[in-house]
Amino acid sequence: MHNTNEILNLNNEYIPLVAQIMEIRKRGNTPLAYVRTYGCQQNVADSEQIKGLLGQMGYDFTENPEEADFILFNTCAVREHAEDRVFGNVGALKSLKRKHPSVLIALCGCMMEQKHIAERIYKSFPFVGLVFGTNCIHQLPKLMYDCLVDGKRLVFRGNDDTTVYENIPVKRDGTFKAWLPIMYGCDNFCTYCIVPYVRGRERSRNPEIIISQAKELIAKGYKEITLLGQNVNSYGKGLPTEDKMTFAQLISEIDKIDGEYILRFMTSHPKDCSKELIDTIAESRHISVHLHLPFQSGSDRILKQMNRRYDREKYLEIINYAKEKIPQLSLTSDIIVGFPGETYEDFKQTLSLVEEVGFTSLFTFIYSPRNGTPAAKMADPVSYEEKNRWFQELLSLQEKISAKRCADMVGKQYRVLVESINEKNNELQTRTSGNVIVEVQGDEGIIGTFQNVEVTSARNWILKGKII
Ligand code: 5AD
Ligand code: SF4
Repeated sequence: MHNTNEILNLNNEYIPLVAQIMEIRKRGNTPLAYVRTYGCQQNVADSEQIKGLLGQMGYDFTENPEEADFILFNTCAVREHAEDRVFGNVGALKSLKRKHPSVLIALCGCMMEQKHIAERIYKSFPFVGLVFGTNCIHQLPKLMYDCLVDGKRLVFRGNDDTTVYENIPVKRDGTFKAWLPIMYGCDNFCTYCIVPYVRGRERSRNPEIIISQAKELIAKGYKEITLLGQNVNSYGKGLPTEDKMTFAQLISEIDKIDGEYILRFMTSHPKDCSKELIDTIAESRHISVHLHLPFQSGSDRILKQMNRRYDREKYLEIINYAKEKIPQLSLTSDIIVGFPGETYEDFKQTLSLVEEVGFTSLFTFIYSPRNGTPAAKMADPVSYEEKNRWFQELLSLQEKISAKRCADMVGKQYRVLVESINEKNNELQTRTSGNVIVEVQGDEGIIGTFQNVEVTSARNWILKGKII
């Protein structure tokens, strides 16, 4: 295991070396990198660190892989569909490498941490020069140097180091919205999930560093900060005694920072979601009135099989407490349909929970077996077609609920952050604290500012409003 200083020293050595090599190869022209990110916000945050390091090595960025000197795919392994897309898109790089033999093609992220995938990539795609895992980002300058100098293919993965490397530069994609990882990895081992195997053991970042980074972002004018972790509610476990802090304490400390900003976080796990956290949100000045609390299944039998360690009653208890304490609360959830052994009776319990809670929106997934997880070995007799029918039933139920919730917002006023312009209709997309999009007419110049809007109409779940 390296310590953080050793890594910094290594980077101090290799960053200028890579910059020199590229300067010679490009005869003084700026080398270009193309970075494509799949999957969740943690991957987006990882890519921002990778881009930070690339920036220090002298790279600029391009959206066009044809003109890139370095191409990187940061991959996702959570479902088979995500992996298939990566295989397809990597395959398509073959002709590009033939045209530009000097391009270095690299793959990283969760997929690469699965041995069988890394082996398949190595065998099937000889034009991929570098493969590295989720715990190796801090070593990127040395890895790139080795590839560029030797021209050899390099696979660097399976690193179970749990050191939290700080001081890695970050090049943020957004100018007013920022991701701020507070912890890495996951120890929950939900039986369907690959994350604990590809992102390693749960470890929390030092609270003082997180708070000072939040301060810095707010001082720079960032308007939205989203704290990231696979299970933010268990933040702080394993920190040395002198740094001990719960997640509720951490967000309440950040909330004390003065400024005009909104604080979001994800993802919460119902088994660790405390009343202390709900009280903190209720009393805060900046924390969004939004709770993303995935319940995955409404059936206690399936929750047990999933190793989720809560039941329907416990979930509803925390939801009802939160609704009572935070009247404006907007709730969202992740749901898996068709877990191995799930029956239609089990699935009906999911439907009834969805109905009972009244979510703003849902992220719904059909179960996808992941090699190496316990669920992949469980009997799974229900056909994909049948699961798809259940899935459609869930979608149409949620559509009705969302439509009703949107209709209830008409005539009400909300403080929103103006995020972007919708090129299709030239309207501004804004987001409420409860994480609902409202489209308004307005000048592009107000993107990145808070405004007050009144919702004027709702067509299904598309809300229109006007700035007041
Ligand atoms: N199949 C389908 N969905 C999954 N998720 C995680 N693993 C799987 C899987 N094997 C979903 C869960 C999780 C979300 C990020 O992805 O709902 O909360
Ligand atoms: Fe996967 Fe469960 Fe960890 Fe979430 S809490 S990342 S679903 S193992």
